[in-house]
Parts: sequence; structure tokens; C-alpha cells
Amino acid sequence: TRPVLLDCDPGIDDMIAILTAVASPEVELVGVTTVGGNVGIDTTTRNALDVLALAGRADIPVARGADRPYLRTLDNRAESVHGGNGLGGVTLPTSGAGPVEATALELMVETVRAATEPVTLVATGPLTNVAHLFAVYPEVASRLARLVVMGGSIGAGNRTPAAEFNIWADPEAAYRVLTEPGLPRPVPTTLVGLDVTYRTAYRPDDLDRLRSAGTVAALCADALEYYLAAYRRDIGMDVVPLHDPLVMAEAIRPGLVTAEPAYVEVDTTVGPSRGNTLVDLRGVRNQPTAEVGVDVDVPSALEFITSRLENYARR
Ligand code: BDR
Ligand code: CA
Repeated sequence: TRPVLLDCDPGIDDMIAILTAVASPEVELVGVTTVGGNVGIDTTTRNALDVLALAGRADIPVARGADRPYLRTLDNRAESVHGGNGLGGVTLPTSGAGPVEATALELMVETVRAATEPVTLVATGPLTNVAHLFAVYPEVASRLARLVVMGGSIGAGNRTPAAEFNIWADPEAAYRVLTEPGLPRPVPTTLVGLDVTYRTAYRPDDLDRLRSAGTVAALCADALEYYLAAYRRDIGMDVVPLHDPLVMAEAIRPGLVTAEPAYVEVDTTVGPSRGNTLVDLRGVRNQPTAEVGVDVDVPSALEFITSRLENYARR
């Protein structure tokens, strides 16, 4: 089993990414670090703890990370999509457990150093903690097996016409990670953006399947119902994209997403293009810095995620 660390901001789809990882025998979720994003850090941390307890894995350490972006706090929360509690109003049984003493940065460093195999880092929130790791411990970051990021878009954004939410919420951090990592050994990085995550979406019917698949899957369906309502209201979409679960699925089963090498420039200017990811797939002037998702096997990805959630009913 390959060790996986998750940096996240739960978040409805982050919750499903956590549950997918725990239910997957191919990997071992060795730690969860939290970042302020969809909601503030107190709530994302509480949610990470409660989701792990729900999954029966309260033993997995959770460490609290950055609440604020590197440089500029603009409007960087997404409560309209995830609800004030971050989970679409779904209340989980509270685990009572707290985060570990270590900060997110410390837990990342300890985990990567202690692991017997190189760790895969999955990032499903703003990249503040990951940028911090790259900036402060480049030699530790260099030991990662792979970095898989939910963020950005080759086409349009979702938070602004130019920017996807995770990149929008901390473009300077994303620049550090995706454009100018500055590591002694480059980490194989896969950026999975809206171009593929939007396509990996449940239709309202799919939520019915989850509802009849035990308590854990049914809680996911309830939270996704909230997400679906927000997508209907805000963008007139009648499907609910599984952004973060797809990224976790790709980390667990590499190849679900088809990715191509590209140079990725993150726009950190303050203006209408802030947080845009400019993806040069042609390699005209720059060396590739990441592999960028261009296609996805949608039926396989959806089946992968759904069946992992259904596993909880069989435990
Ligand atoms: C990303 O933004 C957040 O709201 C989701 O959790 C996901 O990580 C999608 O743009
Ligand atoms: Ca997220």
C-alpha cells in the first residue's frame, strides 16, 4: 500500500475524497492536514476529524495549517457552495478528538521523513500549506513520490471567469508550487482542473444510489444535495461535479485522468485574471512544470468513487 497524505479544506467534496481514500486498500492515508478555504480553519479541521471518525479511522493524525493565504486575503471562502458548516448543513457525530500538536507543516515533514516509501501528497484546497513546505523544506518536498493537485483550469474558472477556487484563494502559493517550485529534485506533479472535474459529475439519480448504500454513503448524498442546489442556483448545472474525489481517485489509481506535460503559469496580478492558470501544452518557450489533466474516463471514475463509498455499508 502506498502512503498518501491529504491536504484539504473540507468541504463537501473534500469529505468524499477523505472517505474514498480510507476505503481504498491500494493506499494508506497516513495523515490529513487542513487549510482555510471553503470555510475557515477551525471548521475545516473539525470536519476533517469528524469525517475520519465517521470512517472509523480517528487514529489518522489531523494537523491544522494556514487559515490565511500567503499574501492577500480577498474573498476566499466558498460558504455559498459548502454551507456555513462546510458540509452542506450535514451534521456528523462529533468525534471529540482534536488535532495533533504539530502544525500541518510539521506533520507533513515528519510523515515524509518517517515513511518507508515515498509519499504521495494530494492537495484539494488552496495551496498555502504545500507552498510553505516547498519554501521551508525543499529537500523534504523533493522526496515526495508525486503531488496531485485539484486546481485550476485550462478553460474558464468557477470562482471568477478566470480562476478556479483553490487557485483563486491563494494564487501566490499556487505560483510557488506550480510555476516556480524551486526544489532540488522536481516532484512529479499532476494538476487536475475543472476541464476534467466538471465532467466527473453525478446526476441527481446517482444520489439515489448512494442513499440506499448505508449510513456513510447516505450522508454524502445529503451533503451533495446541498452542493447540487448551489450549482443549480449559481450556474444552472443539474449535475454535481466530484472535483476532489476525482483527484483522490487519480492518486489511488493513476491513469483515470489522462494528463499531458505542460508549463503552468499562475497569474498573481491583482485584476480580473488573478488566479488564472495559463497552461502551455505546446511547450513553445518553457519546459513543462507539471502534467495537466486533459481527459478522464468518466464512467470508470464515477464507478470507482461510488463503489468505494458503498464499501462502508459492508464493513
Ligand atoms: C474546488 O473548490 C472547492 O470549493 C472544492 O472543495 C474543490 O476543491 C473546486 O473548484
Ligand atoms: Ca476542496
